[in-house]
Amino acid sequence: MKATLLLNPREDKTAILTAGKILRDGGLVAIPTETVYGLGANALDENAVKNVYVAKGRPSDNPIIVHIADFEEIYPLVKSVPEKAKKLADAFWPGPLTIILPKSDKIPAVTSGGLDTVGIRMPSNEIAREVIRAAGVPIAAPSANISGLPSPACFEHVCDDMNGRIDAIVDGGDCAVGVESTVISLCSDVPVIYRPGGITPEQIEAVIGKTELYAAVLNPPEKGVKAASPGVMYKHYSPKAEITVIEGSLTDFENAVNRQYTDEKTGILCFEGEEDKFNLKCVTYGKCDDGLSQAARLFKALRELDEMGLARVFARCPEKKGVGLAVCNRLFRAAAFRIVKPYPIFGITGKTGAGKSEIAKIFKSKGYEIIDCDKISREITSDGSPFIDVLCENFGSEIAENGVLDRKKLAAIVFSDENKLKLLNSLTHPEITRIALSRVAAAIQNKKPALIDAPLLFECGIDKYCDFTVSVLAPENVRLDRIMARDNISYTDAKKRIDSQKLTDEYYIENSTYIIDNPDGNKYMSDVRKILF
Ligand code: TXA
Ligand code: MG
Repeated sequence: MKATLLLNPREDKTAILTAGKILRDGGLVAIPTETVYGLGANALDENAVKNVYVAKGRPSDNPIIVHIADFEEIYPLVKSVPEKAKKLADAFWPGPLTIILPKSDKIPAVTSGGLDTVGIRMPSNEIAREVIRAAGVPIAAPSANISGLPSPACFEHVCDDMNGRIDAIVDGGDCAVGVESTVISLCSDVPVIYRPGGITPEQIEAVIGKTELYAAVLNPPEKGVKAASPGVMYKHYSPKAEITVIEGSLTDFENAVNRQYTDEKTGILCFEGEEDKFNLKCVTYGKCDDGLSQAARLFKALRELDEMGLARVFARCPEKKGVGLAVCNRLFRAAAFRIVKPYPIFGITGKTGAGKSEIAKIFKSKGYEIIDCDKISREITSDGSPFIDVLCENFGSEIAENGVLDRKKLAAIVFSDENKLKLLNSLTHPEITRIALSRVAAAIQNKKPALIDAPLLFECGIDKYCDFTVSVLAPENVRLDRIMARDNISYTDAKKRIDSQKLTDEYYIENSTYIIDNPDGNKYMSDVRKILF
């Protein structure tokens, strides 16, 4: 434990000089900026910067932004300052914009996380710039939180994370913007926005023309791909509660929340004025149509949710434009990309006798439209179905009479010839899929979530159309007993049915969003509670 000095420049005139001296001497000082608090160190002092990684518990390949107080200070830090950098600085500095350029040799590799580029930013917060001037060196400063937690947007939150770990914390009150700076790289022909922030892509494009938005801004990082901006790869802003972002309007959100099993540990992260819609603990973050107000509140709200001891939180989704884009970027990471549609499509599958239909009933009781593929398969071969004509074309007109299928004749044909069986499947499976999907579309159109109950969900490729897939598994002996009792069939017939399903448990486990194991009685209810949307 370090004795951390708490400095308040509003009460103590020497605070800035003290902070500056600690930084110059290689110490660590958390400073307020207009975005979030930064954990500052002399950017040119390798040891000081190493200590930043230690204090934060941050992976050392994640580069740190270098903060300056006046524009001229950029020149020694980068190879050159292109026209676009000057234009951006003119328009937005001091302010919440970080510009990445090829670095000069002055920037040590620890500061740039081993990259040959460096991000430079001139904060608009007066205290920040005064401290940088007092230090007389550029200040490397990541957000002053423990790595992985929400960035601190007020003095108290820096103290929560850093008191006892660093030399000093400068109290500058609340951060005006509340989310970290926009990070833009000018190292390629078309500038790339790695991280959206207080300065929006629209504002930037008005000054330097076309930019690209880095794919990982709103999408989960691709597995196994090394990111150009490593910070985007790490699990970020993660509160203790599991957050699920539900897209759509307030009404859609209410509908989705009303379908969930909730308890005293379930909470809501919504916009101001929406609290009274819910009988659950609510935390608000800004106004529905105002990204700036959302940014100012988001990180504080995330920390408040944790203080309330919530385990599961449903969050309203901001509009993905303007500053709302930055809010989405942070919220999606806090939710570990658990972003759901208000009327999702589930697919449920599993081996015969595993108890899939019992689980489907729970979904039904929660307002899901159940689309039962077994039922569809009976429908398309029921008396008068136009699909029987298709079968006659392929298997001979003798398999039906007056639109009534002779199931025994068809069975005799397909079960004696593997190719004929394949042909039958190649006709029926797409037809069942087509009908199932048209019913899904109708359900969603009517603002109803849908559950496709399909024994061959994966084999028919229906899983591709689902937002979530659930596989229900149970040991073979349990399933044998169940289907023998349920369908009143012999052991041999039951075993034959079971053996006709080729996918292994491992396949289901690997390819499903959720696995419900060995359902018996109420045991699986707890599983369903966790997955219902
Ligand atoms: O608003 C902010 O930018 C705050 C305040 C303190 O200034 N700082 C901040 O730093 O958010 P940090 O370290 O938490 O986030 C820096 C982000 C990371 O995602 C990092 O990967 C990216 O910027 N970054 C920094 N330098 C980079 C570089 N040379 N190339 C690519 N990405 C870089
Ligand atoms: Mg950070």
